[in-house]
Amino acid sequence: MAVTKPTTDIAAAVSILKQGGLVAFPTETVYGLGADAGNQKAVEKIFLAKQRPANHPLIVHLASVSQLQDWAAQISDTAWLLAETFWPGPLAIILKKQDSVLPEVTGGQSTVALRIPDNPVALELLQQFDDGIAAPSANLYNHISPTRAEHVISELGDCVDAVLDGGMCRVGLESTIIDMSGEAPRLLRPGHISPADIEQVIGQPVSMKQQTAVRAPGMREIHYAPTTPAQLCQREQLAGEIKKCLQAGQSIGLLTTGDYPIENRQVKQLSMPDKPVQYAHELYASLRYLDDMKLDRILVETVPETKDWLAVNDRLAKATARGG
Ligand code: TXA
Ligand code: MG
Repeated sequence: MAVTKPTTDIAAAVSILKQGGLVAFPTETVYGLGADAGNQKAVEKIFLAKQRPANHPLIVHLASVSQLQDWAAQISDTAWLLAETFWPGPLAIILKKQDSVLPEVTGGQSTVALRIPDNPVALELLQQFDDGIAAPSANLYNHISPTRAEHVISELGDCVDAVLDGGMCRVGLESTIIDMSGEAPRLLRPGHISPADIEQVIGQPVSMKQQTAVRAPGMREIHYAPTTPAQLCQREQLAGEIKKCLQAGQSIGLLTTGDYPIENRQVKQLSMPDKPVQYAHELYASLRYLDDMKLDRILVETVPETKDWLAVNDRLAKATARGG
Protein backbone atom coordinates (compact mmCIF):
# COMPACT_ATOMS: atom_id res chain seq x y z
CA MET A 1 0.00 0.00 0.00
CA ALA A 2 1.29 3.45 -0.87
CA VAL A 3 2.52 5.69 1.94
CA THR A 4 0.63 8.99 1.90
CA LYS A 5 1.61 10.39 5.32
CA PRO A 6 4.87 10.50 7.26
CA THR A 7 4.99 8.77 10.66
CA THR A 8 6.85 9.28 13.95
CA ASP A 9 6.48 5.63 15.04
CA ILE A 10 10.10 4.49 15.27
CA ALA A 11 9.27 1.09 16.82
CA ALA A 12 7.02 0.27 13.83
CA ALA A 13 9.79 1.38 11.46
CA VAL A 14 12.26 -0.94 13.20
CA SER A 15 9.91 -3.89 12.80
CA ILE A 16 9.46 -3.08 9.08
CA LEU A 17 13.25 -3.09 8.66
CA LYS A 18 13.56 -6.39 10.56
CA GLN A 19 11.01 -7.90 8.16
CA GLY A 20 12.98 -6.76 5.13
CA GLY A 21 10.95 -3.66 4.28
CA LEU A 22 12.00 -0.17 3.20
CA VAL A 23 11.89 2.80 5.59
CA ALA A 24 12.76 6.33 4.54
CA PHE A 25 14.19 8.36 7.40
CA PRO A 26 15.56 11.86 8.01
CA THR A 27 19.25 12.52 8.47
CA GLU A 28 20.97 15.86 8.99
CA THR A 29 21.97 15.87 5.29
CA VAL A 30 19.06 14.51 3.23
CA TYR A 31 16.41 11.78 3.70
CA GLY A 32 17.70 8.22 3.27
CA LEU A 33 15.94 5.18 1.81
CA GLY A 34 16.81 2.54 4.38
CA ALA A 35 16.94 -1.26 4.40
CA ASP A 36 18.58 -3.87 6.62
CA ALA A 37 22.16 -3.83 5.27
CA GLY A 38 22.52 -7.53 6.16
CA ASN A 39 19.45 -8.64 4.18
CA GLN A 40 20.15 -9.13 0.47
CA LYS A 41 16.49 -9.10 -0.61
CA ALA A 42 15.83 -5.91 1.34
CA VAL A 43 18.87 -4.19 -0.19
CA GLU A 44 17.74 -5.21 -3.68
CA LYS A 45 14.42 -3.42 -3.04
CA ILE A 46 16.35 -0.14 -2.68
CA PHE A 47 17.74 -0.46 -6.22
CA LEU A 48 14.31 -1.35 -7.61
CA ALA A 49 12.63 1.59 -5.87
CA LYS A 50 15.24 4.12 -6.98
CA GLN A 51 15.68 2.59 -10.45
CA ARG A 52 19.38 2.73 -9.67
CA PRO A 53 21.96 0.52 -11.45
CA ALA A 54 23.12 -2.34 -9.20
CA ASN A 55 26.81 -1.45 -9.36
CA HIS A 56 26.29 1.83 -7.50
CA PRO A 57 27.32 1.29 -3.86
CA LEU A 58 25.27 2.37 -0.83
CA ILE A 59 26.26 4.03 2.44
CA VAL A 60 25.79 1.88 5.56
CA HIS A 61 24.51 3.90 8.53
CA LEU A 62 25.57 2.94 12.04
CA ALA A 63 24.50 3.88 15.58
CA SER A 64 27.92 3.94 17.26
CA VAL A 65 31.62 4.12 16.41
CA SER A 66 32.11 0.73 18.07
CA GLN A 67 30.17 -0.89 15.20
CA LEU A 68 32.76 0.30 12.69
CA GLN A 69 34.84 -2.85 12.87
CA ASP A 70 31.80 -5.07 12.18
CA TRP A 71 31.75 -3.54 8.68
CA ALA A 72 35.25 -2.27 7.88
CA ALA A 73 38.68 -3.94 7.92
CA GLN A 74 42.20 -2.49 8.11
CA ILE A 75 40.96 0.68 9.81
CA SER A 76 43.89 3.09 10.14
CA ASP A 77 44.40 5.30 13.20
CA THR A 78 43.59 8.26 10.96
CA ALA A 79 40.27 6.71 9.95
CA TRP A 80 39.41 6.04 13.61
CA LEU A 81 40.28 9.66 14.40
CA LEU A 82 37.95 10.91 11.66
CA ALA A 83 35.10 8.70 12.87
CA GLU A 84 35.57 9.72 16.50
CA THR A 85 35.83 13.41 15.62
CA PHE A 86 33.07 13.84 13.06
CA TRP A 87 30.47 11.19 13.98
CA PRO A 88 27.63 11.59 14.39
CA GLY A 89 27.91 13.98 11.47
CA PRO A 90 27.81 14.55 7.70
CA LEU A 91 30.93 12.56 6.80
CA ALA A 92 30.88 9.19 5.02
CA ILE A 93 34.14 7.24 5.29
CA ILE A 94 35.17 4.65 2.68
CA LEU A 95 37.17 1.74 4.08
CA LYS A 96 38.11 -1.80 3.08
CA LYS A 97 35.06 -3.94 3.79
CA GLN A 98 34.72 -6.93 6.07
CA ASP A 99 34.20 -10.19 4.16
CA SER A 100 30.67 -10.45 5.57
CA VAL A 101 29.43 -7.24 3.89
CA LEU A 102 27.02 -8.07 1.07
CA PRO A 103 28.25 -7.34 -2.48
CA GLU A 104 24.82 -5.79 -3.18
CA VAL A 105 25.68 -3.07 -0.64
CA THR A 106 29.13 -2.27 -2.04
CA GLY A 107 28.32 -2.64 -5.73
CA GLY A 108 30.73 -5.56 -5.80
CA GLN A 109 33.66 -3.41 -4.66
CA SER A 110 36.14 -4.31 -1.91
CA THR A 111 35.33 -1.14 0.02
CA VAL A 112 32.31 0.05 2.01
CA ALA A 113 30.99 3.55 2.83
CA LEU A 114 29.99 4.14 6.47
CA ARG A 115 28.57 6.97 8.54
CA ILE A 116 26.67 7.84 11.71
CA PRO A 117 24.05 10.50 10.92
CA ASP A 118 23.51 13.41 13.30
CA ASN A 119 19.74 13.43 13.52
CA PRO A 120 17.73 12.35 16.59
CA VAL A 121 15.17 10.31 14.60
CA ALA A 122 17.89 8.53 12.60
CA LEU A 123 19.93 7.81 15.74
CA GLU A 124 16.92 6.44 17.63
CA LEU A 125 16.04 4.24 14.62
CA LEU A 126 19.63 2.96 14.37
CA GLN A 127 19.90 2.32 18.11
CA GLN A 128 16.64 0.38 18.24
CA PHE A 129 17.47 -1.53 15.04
CA ASP A 130 20.91 -2.25 16.47
CA ASP A 131 22.59 -3.05 13.14
CA GLY A 132 23.67 -1.35 9.91
CA ILE A 133 21.05 0.35 7.74
CA ALA A 134 21.98 0.72 4.06
CA ALA A 135 20.55 3.96 2.71
CA PRO A 136 21.10 6.02 -0.40
CA SER A 137 19.30 9.34 -0.70
CA ALA A 138 15.53 8.69 -0.94
CA ASN A 139 15.02 9.95 -4.51
CA LEU A 140 14.76 8.42 -7.95
CA TYR A 141 18.13 7.78 -9.58
CA ASN A 142 19.74 11.06 -10.74
CA HIS A 143 17.00 13.25 -9.31
CA ILE A 144 17.30 15.85 -6.53
CA SER A 145 17.80 14.48 -3.00
CA PRO A 146 14.83 15.00 -0.64
CA THR A 147 15.15 17.36 2.32
CA ARG A 148 11.56 16.93 3.62
CA ALA A 149 9.40 13.86 4.28
CA GLU A 150 6.87 15.17 1.73
CA HIS A 151 9.51 15.07 -1.02
CA VAL A 152 10.03 11.34 -0.37
CA ILE A 153 6.31 10.63 -0.35
CA SER A 154 5.69 12.41 -3.64
CA GLU A 155 8.54 10.60 -5.37
CA LEU A 156 8.73 7.17 -3.71
CA GLY A 157 5.50 6.87 -1.71
CA ASP A 158 4.47 3.83 -3.79
CA CYS A 159 7.69 1.93 -3.10
CA VAL A 160 8.38 2.47 0.63
CA ASP A 161 6.74 0.84 3.64
CA ALA A 162 7.10 3.90 5.90
CA VAL A 163 8.48 7.44 5.86
CA LEU A 164 9.70 8.73 9.22
CA ASP A 165 9.21 12.46 9.70
CA GLY A 166 12.02 14.70 10.83
CA GLY A 167 10.99 18.00 9.30
CA MET A 168 13.47 19.76 7.08
CA CYS A 169 17.04 18.43 7.01
CA ARG A 170 19.52 20.71 8.80
CA VAL A 171 22.39 20.59 6.28
CA GLY A 172 20.45 20.00 3.06
CA LEU A 173 23.28 18.56 0.91
CA GLU A 174 24.58 14.98 0.94
CA SER A 175 27.49 14.05 3.22
CA THR A 176 31.13 14.70 2.45
CA ILE A 177 32.69 11.41 1.24
CA ILE A 178 36.31 10.69 2.12
CA ASP A 179 38.08 7.60 0.82
CA MET A 180 40.36 6.24 3.56
CA SER A 181 40.88 2.85 1.89
CA GLY A 182 44.01 3.82 -0.06
CA GLU A 183 47.44 5.26 0.62
CA ALA A 184 46.24 8.84 1.10
CA PRO A 185 42.89 10.38 2.09
CA ARG A 186 40.90 11.34 -0.96
CA LEU A 187 37.78 13.49 -1.23
CA LEU A 188 35.12 11.83 -3.38
CA ARG A 189 32.24 14.23 -2.74
CA PRO A 190 32.40 17.69 -1.13
CA GLY A 191 29.89 18.49 1.61
CA HIS A 192 29.29 20.43 4.80
CA ILE A 193 32.54 19.10 6.32
CA SER A 194 35.27 20.72 4.21
CA PRO A 195 38.67 19.35 3.17
CA ALA A 196 40.20 21.97 5.51
CA ASP A 197 38.10 20.65 8.45
CA ILE A 198 39.44 17.15 7.73
CA GLU A 199 43.04 18.27 7.19
CA GLN A 200 42.99 20.13 10.48
CA VAL A 201 42.06 16.93 12.34
CA ILE A 202 44.35 14.44 10.58
CA GLY A 203 47.30 16.76 9.95
CA GLN A 204 47.78 15.63 6.34
CA PRO A 205 46.55 16.88 2.98
CA VAL A 206 43.36 15.54 1.43
CA SER A 207 43.63 14.93 -2.29
CA MET A 208 40.70 16.02 -4.42
CA LYS A 209 41.36 13.82 -7.42
CA GLN A 210 38.13 12.58 -8.94
CA GLN A 211 37.39 8.90 -9.29
CA THR A 212 36.02 7.18 -12.37
CA ALA A 213 32.30 7.30 -12.96
CA VAL A 214 31.73 3.77 -11.70
CA ARG A 215 33.62 4.18 -8.44
CA ALA A 216 31.75 7.23 -7.26
CA PRO A 217 28.57 7.79 -9.23
CA GLY A 218 27.93 10.83 -7.02
CA MET A 219 30.68 12.39 -9.15
CA ARG A 220 28.83 11.68 -12.38
CA GLU A 221 27.97 14.79 -14.29
CA ILE A 222 24.19 14.61 -14.37
CA HIS A 223 23.16 13.92 -10.82
CA TYR A 224 20.99 15.64 -8.25
CA ALA A 225 19.19 17.27 -11.17
CA PRO A 226 15.70 18.70 -11.66
CA THR A 227 13.74 17.41 -14.66
CA THR A 228 13.25 20.97 -15.97
CA PRO A 229 16.25 22.06 -18.08
CA ALA A 230 18.39 24.15 -15.75
CA GLN A 231 21.34 26.37 -16.49
CA LEU A 232 23.83 28.47 -14.54
CA CYS A 233 24.04 32.13 -15.41
CA GLN A 234 26.26 35.00 -14.25
CA ARG A 235 24.37 37.98 -12.84
CA GLU A 236 25.51 40.19 -15.74
CA GLN A 237 24.01 37.74 -18.23
CA LEU A 238 20.71 37.15 -16.40
CA ALA A 239 18.77 40.03 -17.93
CA GLY A 240 19.74 39.00 -21.47
CA GLU A 241 18.98 35.34 -20.83
CA ILE A 242 15.58 36.11 -19.29
CA LYS A 243 14.71 38.32 -22.24
CA LYS A 244 15.70 35.58 -24.69
CA CYS A 245 13.54 32.98 -22.93
CA LEU A 246 10.56 35.33 -22.69
CA GLN A 247 10.81 36.18 -26.37
CA ALA A 248 10.73 32.46 -27.11
CA GLY A 249 7.51 32.26 -25.06
CA GLN A 250 9.13 30.24 -22.27
CA SER A 251 8.18 30.31 -18.59
CA ILE A 252 11.18 30.67 -16.29
CA GLY A 253 12.14 29.64 -12.77
CA LEU A 254 14.79 31.95 -11.40
CA LEU A 255 17.08 31.21 -8.45
CA THR A 256 18.95 34.37 -7.51
CA THR A 257 21.19 35.20 -4.58
CA GLY A 258 20.33 38.38 -2.70
CA ASP A 259 18.42 41.23 -4.31
CA TYR A 260 17.46 40.93 -7.97
CA PRO A 261 14.10 42.59 -8.49
CA ILE A 262 12.11 41.35 -11.46
CA GLU A 263 8.41 41.62 -12.13
CA ASN A 264 7.02 39.39 -14.82
CA ARG A 265 4.31 36.77 -14.40
CA GLN A 266 6.24 34.40 -16.63
CA VAL A 267 9.16 34.44 -14.17
CA LYS A 268 8.86 32.55 -10.86
CA GLN A 269 11.68 33.88 -8.75
CA LEU A 270 13.13 32.48 -5.53
CA SER A 271 15.66 34.55 -3.66
CA MET A 272 18.38 32.45 -2.00
CA PRO A 273 20.47 33.29 1.10
CA ASP A 274 23.91 34.75 0.36
CA LYS A 275 25.73 32.53 2.90
CA PRO A 276 26.79 29.03 1.74
CA VAL A 277 25.48 27.10 4.78
CA GLN A 278 22.03 28.69 4.54
CA TYR A 279 22.06 28.41 0.74
CA ALA A 280 22.83 24.68 0.99
CA HIS A 281 20.03 24.21 3.52
CA GLU A 282 17.46 25.59 1.06
CA LEU A 283 18.86 24.57 -2.34
CA TYR A 284 17.14 21.23 -2.97
CA ALA A 285 13.74 22.33 -1.63
CA SER A 286 13.94 25.41 -3.88
CA LEU A 287 14.94 23.42 -6.97
CA ARG A 288 12.15 20.94 -6.28
CA TYR A 289 9.63 23.75 -5.83
CA LEU A 290 10.55 25.22 -9.22
CA ASP A 291 10.71 21.77 -10.84
CA ASP A 292 7.19 20.98 -9.61
CA MET A 293 5.87 24.11 -11.36
CA LYS A 294 6.67 22.46 -14.70
CA LEU A 295 8.27 25.58 -16.16
CA ASP A 296 10.16 25.56 -19.43
CA ARG A 297 13.52 26.50 -17.94
CA ILE A 298 15.29 27.14 -14.65
CA LEU A 299 17.98 29.82 -14.50
CA VAL A 300 20.36 29.68 -11.53
CA GLU A 301 22.54 32.65 -10.73
CA THR A 302 26.16 31.60 -10.14
CA VAL A 303 27.55 31.80 -6.60
CA PRO A 304 31.11 32.72 -5.54
CA GLU A 305 33.90 30.30 -6.52
CA THR A 306 35.47 30.44 -3.04
CA LYS A 307 36.24 27.37 -0.89
CA ASP A 308 33.27 27.85 1.42
CA TRP A 309 30.98 27.45 -1.61
CA LEU A 310 32.71 24.23 -2.83
CA ALA A 311 29.85 21.81 -2.03
CA VAL A 312 27.16 24.18 -3.33
CA ASN A 313 29.09 24.75 -6.57
CA ASP A 314 29.53 20.98 -6.98
CA ARG A 315 25.75 20.40 -6.69
CA LEU A 316 24.86 23.39 -8.90
CA ALA A 317 27.20 22.08 -11.61
CA LYS A 318 25.47 18.68 -11.43
CA ALA A 319 21.95 20.12 -11.33
CA THR A 320 22.66 22.09 -14.50
CA ALA A 321 24.86 19.56 -16.33
CA ARG A 322 22.09 18.72 -18.80
CA GLY A 323 22.10 22.35 -19.83
CA GLY A 324 19.25 24.70 -20.50
O1 TXA B 1 24.27 12.33 3.12
C1 TXA B 1 24.30 11.20 2.65
O2 TXA B 1 25.36 10.59 2.43
C2 TXA B 1 22.96 10.54 2.31
C3 TXA B 1 22.27 10.18 3.62
C4 TXA B 1 21.01 9.40 3.41
O3 TXA B 1 23.16 9.51 4.45
N1 TXA B 1 23.16 9.39 1.48
C5 TXA B 1 23.56 9.48 0.20
O4 TXA B 1 23.63 8.26 -0.44
O5 TXA B 1 23.83 10.53 -0.35
P1 TXA B 1 23.78 8.10 -2.02
O6 TXA B 1 23.68 6.65 -2.30
O7 TXA B 1 22.80 8.97 -2.70
O8 TXA B 1 25.22 8.56 -2.27
C6 TXA B 1 26.25 7.75 -1.78
C7 TXA B 1 27.47 7.96 -2.56
C8 TXA B 1 27.34 7.49 -3.99
O9 TXA B 1 27.88 8.48 -4.85
C9 TXA B 1 28.19 6.25 -4.00
O10 TXA B 1 28.78 6.01 -5.22
C10 TXA B 1 29.23 6.57 -2.95
O11 TXA B 1 28.52 7.20 -1.97
N2 TXA B 1 29.82 5.33 -2.41
C11 TXA B 1 29.23 4.42 -1.63
N3 TXA B 1 30.07 3.38 -1.38
C12 TXA B 1 31.21 3.67 -2.03
C13 TXA B 1 32.45 3.00 -2.17
N4 TXA B 1 32.68 1.83 -1.61
N5 TXA B 1 33.40 3.59 -2.93
C14 TXA B 1 33.18 4.80 -3.52
N6 TXA B 1 32.02 5.48 -3.42
C15 TXA B 1 31.05 4.92 -2.69
MG1 MG C 1 21.89 10.15 -4.03
